[in-house]
Formats: sequence, structure tokens, C-alpha cells
Amino acid sequence: MSVATIQFDRFNQLQDEQAQERIVAARERLGDRAVLLCHHYQRADVYRHADLTGDSLKLAKLASQTDAEYIVFCGVHFMAEVADILSRPEQVAILPDLAAGCSMADMANLAKVERCWRELGEVLDDPDASITPVTYINSAADLKAFCGEHGGIVCTSTNAPKILDWAFAQREKVLFFPDQHLGRWTGYKKDIPLEQMVVWDPDQEYGGLTPDEIRNAKILLWKGHCSVHQMFQESHIRRWRMQHPDGFVISHPESNLEVCLNSDHVGSTEFIINTIKGAPPNTQWLVGTELNLVSRLAEEVKPEGKTVQFMAPTVCMCSTMQRIDPQHLAWALENLADGNVVNRISVPVHEAELARLALERMLAV
Ligand code: 13P
Ligand code: SF4
Repeated sequence: MSVATIQFDRFNQLQDEQAQERIVAARERLGDRAVLLCHHYQRADVYRHADLTGDSLKLAKLASQTDAEYIVFCGVHFMAEVADILSRPEQVAILPDLAAGCSMADMANLAKVERCWRELGEVLDDPDASITPVTYINSAADLKAFCGEHGGIVCTSTNAPKILDWAFAQREKVLFFPDQHLGRWTGYKKDIPLEQMVVWDPDQEYGGLTPDEIRNAKILLWKGHCSVHQMFQESHIRRWRMQHPDGFVISHPESNLEVCLNSDHVGSTEFIINTIKGAPPNTQWLVGTELNLVSRLAEEVKPEGKTVQFMAPTVCMCSTMQRIDPQHLAWALENLADGNVVNRISVPVHEAELARLALERMLAV
């Protein structure tokens, strides 16, 4: 039986320790009716409560496999949407703070992508016959639905190379959104010349491109980026290498091309963690990805004499994911334990069907 919904302002004032105790108590009441999925960037005081952790691809698969009634997502909005899309209809996806968005995902929206498609159609006649739309999983559900409807697909930082092969097997060109850097790095690794990867600026007519630039392009890269990964620069790597000539550099592919080119390894958050954990003892690492992940990893591998350093001199956390704090988590869980669903993420049925198509194409590749 449910009792009245508890309002968040009663939790806002909780000390961290009190919030932690209430999370544990609510989880005991919920038992296996709730599963807590956490992305690797989640802050430590929330991450410690995770049942399962992963990068975007692993979390998408986990969300499609769990039997729990409630999938409590400690990540950002698009991740909870994917959980809702891939889970069964009776399962409920929850995002403890609805303000936990992804600034990169917000750089593309359906109106702008549809306008882009229309303008491409004026130059290429039928974009559905010549372009495969590929959306990075860091995007809203309606953009995944757009890809589902137009013969396109979703990719993550892990599977982008395979997905690009799939996309080119369908049609001669790719429209890649919203992260230009992941698209460029993936295309570069496939030997696509840089001049055939052009940036589509959604705020300009025809993306700011000439008809010839559009006709000659293999990949049209949406002008979007991650506010965290754009902080990493090649100069940080150069300086670090002078002091650590035997060290290794590892970066997330949302970093710019120069950073990726000057790194020893490039890959997803899960790849970064596994590579450093699997490395020989006493090795030194410079890491180009979010600070919560890097700090946690540095502590975990310290006993093996490994040193792990963050790439940028400034603090760069994923400030939106950071919004999911112990207070919001305690609030969401206590309401669930009382039978009240708060902050449900529910993608409209038709949109979810088309988005699922694009996600399932990805999972099948
Ligand atoms: P991963 O899929 O590599 O975890 O990346 C997600 C993300 O948002 C990186 O900024
Ligand atoms: Fe989005 Fe960047 Fe945060 Fe990843 S780190 S969730 S891309 S804002």
C-alpha cells in the first residue's frame, strides 16, 4: 500500500551521513525489487551503493537483462531513457534527479536534425538512399527514433568502429551526431581522409557547407562535443611525457583528435579501467576522462605501485551526473519503498519502438 509521496525538500537538508543511512534502510525494504545501475563517472558517495556498474554499452545490456521492478539509474538522462526503452513494459526506470542531463546530448535536437536531413535532401536528392544516420548513445530518445526510422543505428564509445562499418555497408555516407570528436576519431581509424569528414554546424544554413563539400564528404560530423573532454589538450600530454618518459597515456574518444593521436590507448570508460587494472605493477598513467572515475581508479591501483594522473590541470567532473547525490538517491528510494514512483523516465510508446529498433540494430552488430 502506498503512502503520500515524500517531497524532496525534506531530504535536501539531510547531512550526507544521514542520507547514506536512509539509502541503506530503503534498499533493505526494497530488496531485489530495485536494482541500482551506476555509470563510472558517478560520484563516490553514490557509486558505493551500486549493484552494477559499467560504460554506456554495458549498462544498456544490463538494463535489458535485469528482472528488477525498478531500475534506479545513477547516470544521466539518456542512460535512463535507454533503460526504459530496453526493459520490459512493466519495469520502471528512475533517474533520482531529473536535472542530470548530458550537455553533449543537448547539442542536437530533433528539429535541428530534421532540418539537416531536409537540407541534405536538397543537395543529395534522397538522403534515405545515400546517408546512414548514426547517433552516439549520448542523445535523446527521439534522435534514436529518427535513426530507427531512417535505417540508422546507435553507437557507443566501445562499438563505434564496428557500427561505422555497418553504416557504410548500408549507404555511401554517414551523418554522425552529436559528438564530432568520436565520429572523427572513428573515421580516422578507418582511414577516411580528414577532408572527407566535414563539420555540420546546425546553426548555419546547410551546416555552413557548400554543395560540393556535402557531395564529397564521407562523414558529416555534427558540431557537438563534451564539455568535460574538451578540456584535455595535446600540450597536457607533451608536458607529462617529459616528466614520465616511460609512462602511458590513455584517453576517452570524446577527446579531440590531437589528444587521441598522442595517446597510447583510446577507448571507453570500461576499457580505460580494464586496461589500467590489467597493466603491470609500478606503471605510470595519464588519463583523459572524467575526474570521479580517475580518482577512484587511482586509489584502487595504488597498492600495486601504479600511479594514475588526471590529464587536465583544472577540475573537470561531469557536473550534470554529479547532481545525483545521496540526498536525491535517498529520496527516490524511500518513495519507492513506500510504493510511490518518483522521477520515472518514460519514453512515449511510438518513439520507444523506433528507438528500440536503432538500439537493437546496434546490439546485433
Ligand atoms: P562510456 O560509454 O565510455 O562510459 O562514455 C559515456 C560518456 O558519457 C562519456 O562521457
Ligand atoms: Fe555527457 Fe560529457 Fe557528462 Fe559524458 S561526461 S555524460 S558526454 S556531459
